[in-house]
Amino acid sequence: MRFIGNKTHLLEHIKEVVDRHAAGASSFCDIFSGTASVARYFKQWYKVYSNDLLYFSYCLQRGTVENPNKPAFARLSSALGIAAPVQYLNEMPTGDMECLEQDKRFFQNNYAPAGGRMYITDSNALRIDFSRNAIEDWRHHGYLSDDEYFYLIASVIEGIPFVSNISGTYGAFNKTWDSRSKKPFALIDLPVIENGRSNLSFNRDGSALLREIAGDILYIDPPYNERQYLPNYHVLETAAKYDFPELRGITGQRPYEAQRSDFCSRRTVVGAFDALLSNANFQHIILSYNTDGIMTLDEIEQTMKRHGIPSTYEVNYIPYRRFKSRSAATKTGELKELLVYIQKEV
Ligand SMILES: C[S@@+](CC[C@H](N)C(=O)[O-])C[C@H]1O[C@@H](n2cnc3c(N)ncnc32)[C@H](O)[C@@H]1O
Repeated sequence: MRFIGNKTHLLEHIKEVVDRHAAGASSFCDIFSGTASVARYFKQWYKVYSNDLLYFSYCLQRGTVENPNKPAFARLSSALGIAAPVQYLNEMPTGDMECLEQDKRFFQNNYAPAGGRMYITDSNALRIDFSRNAIEDWRHHGYLSDDEYFYLIASVIEGIPFVSNISGTYGAFNKTWDSRSKKPFALIDLPVIENGRSNLSFNRDGSALLREIAGDILYIDPPYNERQYLPNYHVLETAAKYDFPELRGITGQRPYEAQRSDFCSRRTVVGAFDALLSNANFQHIILSYNTDGIMTLDEIEQTMKRHGIPSTYEVNYIPYRRFKSRSAATKTGELKELLVYIQKEV
């Protein structure tokens, strides 16, 4: 998924650091999960804990990390004859979805031209609205277990960025239609790794959650700058909650005060990082950050050494790959991603 700070491209580097330091470990915590890409990957080998402040991230995790396997949809199948709801919704013609009442079409009424915005076309908005209403109805009637419900919500969320008319984030929509947005919306048939362990997903403040769990490897991938995440992904949050919020302004933001992160403010970030490490009951700690983040490398080192064994502190530099051209990368000088390791006595 397109998401600021998505670590799909770093997975093998993280694995290399994990393997070098934590042979014999059996659990892995991805405390700032975002797209869940890191939690999903490490689920192959470990009991995984995943977590994020964003509810849509929680749904992505809950549907593919906490879920032990791909759901069977047995009740939905026996009650309505729908054995494969992802395919069922994807194959339904948009015309057949027009039966959905107008007041149930939150996406069309707010994020599409019918509602005065251009995040998504009218027809794709209807497909999303129809899918979300169907999933809520099926759950309401008892046809879906929690595992099945969250799997379907995750499938909807994963599909939305493929047809969104944005350049990068939902901070604003494009004024003309991007070719991507003209493709039909489809739920994504997500794979679920079976690892035979009880994995757990959370929607909490990471620091508070760490007071309540313990394990071997803690992977910390906080925001690097002062851009709060929620306003940049508000459309996905609303798709996940489908709670008909009151939207504000031209860009249609939803309220998000409770989801502000202390890691996105220069004033609070070092204190927040210090508290997080203090609460951590994990022996192996790995931080992802970059060299132009709002915490300096000196602050990172001091904070990590305060809570860990100083002699085990290690910094790995990885060349940054977000730039499409070499000249763009060169202009910014020495920008690098960091993987910082320390061992903590627990
Ligand atoms: C750099 S992104 C993580 C990206 C993720 N590793 C991936 O591959 O998609 C940072 C994440 O931290 C989350 N976050 C920020 N503050 C948080 C907090 N106090 N507790 C939990 N999550 C938080 C944000 O919502 C965001 O999803």
